[in-house]
Amino acid sequence: MDEMEAGVKPKRDIVTHGPYEGEHRERQVNIAKKLFSAMGIERHDSEMRQDWVRRGFRQFDAPISLILTYDRILDPGTTCHFDLGALGYGIVLAAWNRGIGAVTNGQGISRSDIVREVAGIPDEEVIMTAIAMGWPDDSFAANNVRSDREPNDNFVRYVGFED
Ligand SMILES: Cc1cc2nc3c(=O)[nH]c(=O)nc-3n(C[C@H](O)[C@H](O)[C@H](O)COP(=O)(O)O)c2cc1C
Repeated sequence: MDEMEAGVKPKRDIVTHGPYEGEHRERQVNIAKKLFSAMGIERHDSEMRQDWVRRGFRQFDAPISLILTYDRILDPGTTCHFDLGALGYGIVLAAWNRGIGAVTNGQGISRSDIVREVAGIPDEEVIMTAIAMGWPDDSFAANNVRSDREPNDNFVRYVGFED
């Protein structure tokens, strides 16, 4: 946290896509507006907006932080990224099914070098993403925000179902 506030750039093992643009950026802005509105954070309140971003870097203050990694020998295969995503999704659903809150949080591994040191992760493992876990706090306003869903017809192509 100290280094991020001092302006040190993220250091991840994985390659990322840079800032969102176009419709991806629109979705990011849309969910930010919803969250800030629920939290009572004004548009020009840069300190509170920054505080919200920091919260993500703190794994939303959750008591448990899972770090998902894969064997470096599988690089640069895209399949291992996909497979680990499937595992992460399974973990998140299984947790909620047992009443435990869980959210995937890419921000949690922004400083993978520090995560590696703190969690004692060997160099042969690539740090991919994080999952924040804990008892859900329904009284926390942001937890009741629901992101918009794109209608299926906007992105699913149906073939062979004309009749
Ligand atoms: C792969 C992935 C990475 C994410 N990374 C972040 C993140 O870095 N910061 C954040 O605030 N939310 C992040 N999220 C969003 C939260 O996990 C989100 O609250 C959760 O997916 C439930 O909300 P949803 O129904 O809108 O997906 C991420 C979600 C996914 C699926």
